[in-house]
Amino acid sequence: METWVIYLFVAVLALLTVTGLFLFTVTRGAMVVRRYLSDTHTDAAHVYPIYSNMRLIRLIDFQPIISAILLFQYHRLVSAIVEGLHNLELRGQKVLITSCAFGNVIPRVVSAAIETGADKVMIADIIRNELAHTESKLLGAAHARTEMLEQNAVNLKVASESVAANVIFFLLHELPHSLKIEALREAGRVTQPGGKIFLAEFHRPERWVLRALSWTYFKVFEPLGLALWDTHDPVMLIDEIGGFTCERHTYSCGNFQIIVATKSR
Ligand SMILES: C[S@@+](CC[C@H](N)C(=O)[O-])C[C@H]1O[C@@H](n2cnc3c(N)ncnc32)[C@H](O)[C@@H]1O
Repeated sequence: METWVIYLFVAVLALLTVTGLFLFTVTRGAMVVRRYLSDTHTDAAHVYPIYSNMRLIRLIDFQPIISAILLFQYHRLVSAIVEGLHNLELRGQKVLITSCAFGNVIPRVVSAAIETGADKVMIADIIRNELAHTESKLLGAAHARTEMLEQNAVNLKVASESVAANVIFFLLHELPHSLKIEALREAGRVTQPGGKIFLAEFHRPERWVLRALSWTYFKVFEPLGLALWDTHDPVMLIDEIGGFTCERHTYSCGNFQIIVATKSR
């Protein structure tokens, strides 16, 4: 084998190893340390440093990196939610985004809501740095019509049945299991009759190769996410809560899902 091929192979392997170790340190690794230090008593104890430390937030939040993490399906998933919002009658209504997320999902969702006539968009997140970072992405009308709320998704200070649409983008897989159902219950409480919850999440892949790779990823980096495949399937949890009709759309060989839950009138 040519020497340059060996060097290239070693360089790529080294880069992947360093990236993996870095990601582990700022996600699951930090949780292990927190548990060891018994530093798990706050409401935000489950939030990875990657979402709470401003330097890490700024380091990671680049569209190509974020798109790659979602296997280049990010644009497609966000577009599906944007299209869903455009099909609603939002004139004079309020829209809620439950938790910030990296990339351009928040500016795109806010713009779609405003274009469709929404009066106000509220963005709730438990971490102040995430809210500040997200706010810096919103310009002009999008900024003027948006309200940032430092609140817990399981205990929102938002009036019952007050929002016409509620977008939850890849939050559930990061929550401890007991909070997954609490967050959905809270989302249900604030959504008005006829209103919709748009929930984007990971899903159990159809092909066994993808399933094995995905399982390994979750076991190493995001162990709370695997339960979405079975014991904490969001559609099952929403059905348990009751009062909603769910439609599930899967993407990319079943790797991802968007659930549109409509509240009964
Ligand atoms: C939505 S997930 C990340 C999604 C995805 N991995 C991405 O960024 O593309 C991370 C966000 O959820 C927020 N979060 C975690 N637990 C929360 C809770 N209980 N209430 C509100 N926000 C929460 C974190 O602060 C962070 O901003």
